Amino acid sequence: MADMGGSISKILFTEEQIKNRIKEIGMQITEDYKGENLTVIGILKGAFIFAADLVRQIKLPVTVDFIAVSSYGSATQSSGEVKIIKDLDISVKDKNLLLVEDIVDTGLTLKYLLENLKSRGPAGIKTCVLLDKPQARKVEVPINYKGFTIDNVFVVGYGLDYDQKFRNLPYIACLKKEVVGKSRE
Ligand code: IMP
Repeated sequence: MADMGGSISKILFTEEQIKNRIKEIGMQITEDYKGENLTVIGILKGAFIFAADLVRQIKLPVTVDFIAVSSYGSATQSSGEVKIIKDLDISVKDKNLLLVEDIVDTGLTLKYLLENLKSRGPAGIKTCVLLDKPQARKVEVPINYKGFTIDNVFVVGYGLDYDQKFRNLPYIACLKKEVVGKSRE
């Protein structure tokens, strides 16, 4: 069973809700980038499912690449230190970039990547994030396209993990307190 023995306390967004919202975002992006080149950059691992579904709702020719980052910290709390562990394969010079992220929490990951990518001379960069947790923000980052805003709660599913698990849930959910508490004791 994908939810692995009843670890889920509440489903925040169903598969259907996510699908519908991504369709809307895809239409908006299609409209905004009509006639331009577009390079979609997914941030691994969390955004792998979101990026895969999003690009299929963008009705334009797109180039897709991925960048993988690791942020040090505990399973539920990022320390803010970000390191690129797999860089892009392509040059992004003079390209219109759309950086696709699963969730913006403190904002530190997105800020680091925006600065890093800007230094490579793209034509422009916009951001698309599935979930925004504004209450957890430590640094301000621009969000151009957003799926949903959530409270400051830890969520899993649809690419998001807890201790590398739950990424395959088709919905976004909160974990039971006992589950999140366990590995931090
Ligand atoms: P930030 O740098 O604090 O904005 O968040 C960076 C990363 O932390 C995100 O890309 C996620 O991988 C992870 N993260 C933040 N909040 C959650 C959550 O609620 N569930 C799972 N991962 C999260």
